[in-house]
Amino acid sequence: MLKSPGGEKAGEIREFLRGAGYTAEELTRRFHNTDPPIPGTPRWFRIEAETESDSLSDALVRWFFLGTLPAVPEAVPTELRSSFMDFGVLDDSGRPTVQWVPFGSDWIVSDRWVDKSDPDPNFPEDPVIGVGPAAVHLHRFTTRESAATVLDLGCGGGVQTLDLLDTANRVVASDLSRRALDFARFNLAFNRPDDVERVEFLCGDGLAPVEDRTFPKIICNPPFILTPSAPVSVASEELLDGLCRRFIRDGAQRLDEGGVLQMILEWVEIEGTSWQDRIATWLKDLSCDAWLLHANHQAPISYVETRVRELDPLGAEDDLGSRFRNWVQYFRSNQVSAIHGGLLWLRKRTPGRNWIRFEDLEGEMAGPSSTEVLDLLRRFDLLDPGHSANPSSDLADPWNERVLELPLRVAQPIRRQTGETIGGDGARSAFVRLDIGSGFRRTVTVDPEIAEFLMRFDGSQPARDVIDGFVRHAGGPEAEIRKEVGRVSRLLFEKGFLTDA
Ligand SMILES: C[S@@+](CC[C@H](N)C(=O)[O-])C[C@H]1O[C@@H](n2cnc3c(N)ncnc32)[C@H](O)[C@@H]1O
Repeated sequence: MLKSPGGEKAGEIREFLRGAGYTAEELTRRFHNTDPPIPGTPRWFRIEAETESDSLSDALVRWFFLGTLPAVPEAVPTELRSSFMDFGVLDDSGRPTVQWVPFGSDWIVSDRWVDKSDPDPNFPEDPVIGVGPAAVHLHRFTTRESAATVLDLGCGGGVQTLDLLDTANRVVASDLSRRALDFARFNLAFNRPDDVERVEFLCGDGLAPVEDRTFPKIICNPPFILTPSAPVSVASEELLDGLCRRFIRDGAQRLDEGGVLQMILEWVEIEGTSWQDRIATWLKDLSCDAWLLHANHQAPISYVETRVRELDPLGAEDDLGSRFRNWVQYFRSNQVSAIHGGLLWLRKRTPGRNWIRFEDLEGEMAGPSSTEVLDLLRRFDLLDPGHSANPSSDLADPWNERVLELPLRVAQPIRRQTGETIGGDGARSAFVRLDIGSGFRRTVTVDPEIAEFLMRFDGSQPARDVIDGFVRHAGGPEAEIRKEVGRVSRLLFEKGFLTDA
């Protein structure tokens, strides 16, 4: 049982962990990232082999990153161990009861991985998941506008909650699991003792705990893993991706006008349909603008292969082979042809016609991306015919009517690589790959002439004049060239390679 520490004690221990080098920077330097390794994997054994010294930092890694019982080095003061026992992160015999991993400037408690070889396998019904890739991606995608009260839906151990406190006055953190809320309370009290009063914890299913309220912002990392019946309760009981659908549709109802929901999700593609079809029906009639960034897709059998082991250390008790076969059969019987993953942004906008964009995430969310995401969203509004404060003055095609009048220039810095493709007949064609962005990195691959054309945008004249100049200079069928050059220029603007700022 975790016991939230008092502010002063928490401050001392944070200082201590920092001083001992048990920090995100140090773990990243030593082990490439802060993802705790899955027991029994080469990464786990490697980290074990690299933390054999009797230094304090190695002891902390072994306790709280690997989940083993280190020989307690001299360097660990008795007082520190008893504080850990008081908090409940070590049991009475000095064994770790949780994972406790640095993330950013915080330390996040979650359930530790337990497998059958553990001397005391104690499988919780509803394990609280640590900071995994999904939480990190949502965190990077989250935009940082200031807001009065933000909802963290399915808050788990409160990773997003802590982050939201930097921009929101208050956070409502809700979860179905009481254990998760206990972990979130601990993480809040330990890392941000001064902000405890700014968070309201609510227990319940989906949006039910807030059914009479609306929010300017909702953040959600739902339990999206698509399992037939979870060996542990990390997935919803609802068929396939039904829980994501419900959270999106119910979440949209709980947004203020202009309010934004941001979420990471997975969904299925059903045989004979496209990857957009299913999501399109979810987004219909919500009175929301929507931007879905499609990040990945997998064949059902590859998905099962990847996921089936991930659940093991969380306490899977059944046989791996039968779980694998049942899972594959589940997808087959539901005609699932692929599983897709991505990031969704929704904004409530009742008047006018809403825009919905489906895009492939060409590039990656390599770091915090708020500024870049907000800049792209501003462009989408600028290009949207139905998006205007005064609907009667809507432009038929804002790209032609409004954006082409802007003195666009090349955004900086752009990275550029050149390459060549060689066809079966030996024919060679050159290409240029451009990429931009520090957090949200975007790429385009274009002909070398287009890359040169891009450099003509220097902000000295309206975009229309730059395009006209190029068309005259290019020679050939003017209408065709103008159309193609217009299309590419628009794409470069939408992706942020051209800017009006
Ligand atoms: C993947 S975890 C996300 C934790 C955290 N938000 C993060 O980003 O790391 C999903 C959380 O959703 C919660 N959950 C599952 N079903 C739910 C439901 N029907 N209503 C509310 N929360 C639910 C789980 O208990 C779990 O804590």
